[in-house]
Amino acid sequence: MVVFALAVLVTLSSYAAGCSPGTNSTELQLRRMEHQPVTAQLAAVFQEMESLRCEQTTLQQQQNALTQIHQMSPRWTTEREVAGTHVLTYGSHDHDDDEEEEEEEDEEKSLRRRGDPCFHYTVLDQAWRATNTTSKFKMCDRNVKWKGWYRMYYKGQSLQMPERCVPVNKCGTHSPLWLAGTHPRRRDGIVTRNVCGHWKKRCCAFRSTPIKVKKCRGNYYVYQFTQPSSCYLAYCADVNTLVCGRCRRNQSCVSRDKINWRCKRKKRLSSKKIHFFASFPGNLMGKVNRIKYSKVLVNVGRAYNRRTGVFKAPVKGIYQFFFSTVAGRRGQKTDLWLVVNNYWVAVSHSHISRPSTVSSLSTYMTFLRRGAIVYVTQNCGQSWANAASTTITFGGSLLVQMR
Ligand SMILES: *[C@@H]1O[C@H](CO)[C@@H](O)[C@H](O)[C@H]1NC(C)=O
Ligand SMILES: *[C@@H]1O[C@H](CO)[C@@H](O)[C@H](O)[C@H]1NC(C)=O
Repeated sequence: MVVFALAVLVTLSSYAAGCSPGTNSTELQLRRMEHQPVTAQLAAVFQEMESLRCEQTTLQQQQNALTQIHQMSPRWTTEREVAGTHVLTYGSHDHDDDEEEEEEEDEEKSLRRRGDPCFHYTVLDQAWRATNTTSKFKMCDRNVKWKGWYRMYYKGQSLQMPERCVPVNKCGTHSPLWLAGTHPRRRDGIVTRNVCGHWKKRCCAFRSTPIKVKKCRGNYYVYQFTQPSSCYLAYCADVNTLVCGRCRRNQSCVSRDKINWRCKRKKRLSSKKIHFFASFPGNLMGKVNRIKYSKVLVNVGRAYNRRTGVFKAPVKGIYQFFFSTVAGRRGQKTDLWLVVNNYWVAVSHSHISRPSTVSSLSTYMTFLRRGAIVYVTQNCGQSWANAASTTITFGGSLLVQMR
């Protein structure tokens, strides 16, 4: 009879606030209470009901959080099969030239390579194009039927177009063609650049047809040359950039004056330093929407606000958070949730059946965009702390900054 009533009550139980004591086995307790007054039995039912409601809410929130994570920013997440396992990757691996990239699966690689000019180019190895040659015969690239992409070489060694005005009568022609602009970075993809022909003291006397350029992995460039606007114009190969072909993967080729080039170790993204650690110096009873950890012990980067209890990601990157509490009251569930951009993502759950206390520490690591909001909420229960205990805490660090 009572059990039946409980079933009805549970289905109706989506009201009231604050979760209260519950037991592991309702039926056992109710049987034990058979000879007790109906009021006591009813009280037990209500207690169990509230406890179940708390559990239900928690489960619901867990499910919501999972659903939301799956729906979150499809642009950032790509799923791929690797040896039968589903791998979920956050962000593009190509976010930074400076990073060594993982080797892709062969199949994926070949898919990517198809149509990529970095793997489909014609070798253009003509020594007369060098910036330091002065030949009697003048060449004109207008007479060439350009098709597709080209990679420049000088006697078998990779090099690139000059980014500076080249003296006239060099590069085996009258008016040497140079790139009016910088070479792209790899993450720029294919770019269009103007090409200039130097003539009669005017570095851009001939504004030739623009070309396309792409930077490839391994410090080389491919060019989609086109017929220049007139004769005698020819595309130059800068012998000063021969050194660039010898740069290692973790180096890039740099030049201040565009004349002298050298390999330089790639600059790591100077990571911003973000670290915070704060505690709440008292007890927390029942539902607390946002815990305002007011005692701040560390706040490097000032991303945590003690007045609001909110951490706001100042840069895009991978962050790690932790939060702790001490729950203590018999038969009570205590749930603290980490909330990221309004999604409940991680719970610290404790349920004590005997007079005791339980310490709980939960951690969470995630990718955050700039401006993302993180805080902790107490959904139900009771957390214990005093001014000196540092038991209800919240902290975090930026692990890796991303562009
Ligand atoms: C041009 O430069 C290359 C590479 O430094 C060198 O081997 C070659 O001798 C130079 N040619 C002339 C004509 O200076
Ligand atoms: C750069 O890469 C080379 C191998 O290509 C390695 O020997 C060297 O230690 C690397 N340098 C740095 C600073 O990572």
